[in-house]
Amino acid sequence: MMILVGGEKGGSGKSCLAQNLAVYFARDKQAIVLMVDCDPQRTTSDWIQARNADPSLPAINCIQLYGKIRNDLLSLKQHYDYVIVDCGGQDNLALRAAMSVAEHVIIPLRPKRRDLKTVPHMEDMLSTCKMVNPKMLASFVITQCPSLPNQANRIIEAKEVCSSYGINVLNAVTYNRNVYDDSEEQGSSVLENEPNSKAAEEMKAIAEELLAMEPDDSHEFK
Ligand SMILES: Nc1ncnc2c1ncn2[C@@H]1O[C@H](COP(=O)(O)OP(=O)(O)OP(=O)(O)O)[C@@H](O)[C@H]1O
Ligand SMILES: [Mg+2]
Repeated sequence: MMILVGGEKGGSGKSCLAQNLAVYFARDKQAIVLMVDCDPQRTTSDWIQARNADPSLPAINCIQLYGKIRNDLLSLKQHYDYVIVDCGGQDNLALRAAMSVAEHVIIPLRPKRRDLKTVPHMEDMLSTCKMVNPKMLASFVITQCPSLPNQANRIIEAKEVCSSYGINVLNAVTYNRNVYDDSEEQGSSVLENEPNSKAAEEMKAIAEELLAMEPDDSHEFK
């Protein structure tokens, strides 16, 4: 299965989610996982490097691919249980190519106007890619949510914006928590760093919600 964590908004938590999902599948599902880093900034490759320098952390394979990567991805998919692609907005070609082969596309967005402004363009890209990959399941996930109760409305409103474009939005969200950043710096995951934390629960909920989704057989071109 290929899961693309993508989107064009910088800092929305794409790499963080991709890394935590990779650890979830390797650790909790005992799966063979490959990460594909399509970001020229190499955030995930740096994370892997930090990870490999710590003998207590199980190794995860990672390669870098840029540009027209569709055929590379198609052949890699055959050799792994899960291929997790971390794709930023800088490499539009790679993002589209990955969208054309992935089973799941997951797009993190913060509940902020500047992130939500990207929804129409992402919807446009997703509909184009659905023509070649009609079974692809696309979802938004709201990340780095404020935990103050009086700001809960922001999360609901963000979800409503995504739904209004006809795209699935996950029930599971992530809240703003330092453990995400701390884990990333150590080449680790919140699942390893603080397995009983709320952050670990958030990551598991996202992964489980993805796995529970039924394949899209509607072949609908929106
Ligand atoms: N839920 C969260 N709570 C707090 N910090 C978070 C959360 N998710 C991600 N972060 C932190 O926010 C920063 C940006 O996240 P990340 O690098 O994953 O974003 P990105 O979308 O991959 O950015 P880019 O577009 O630059 O690739 C990182 O320092 C990360 O650790
Ligand atoms: Mg990134």
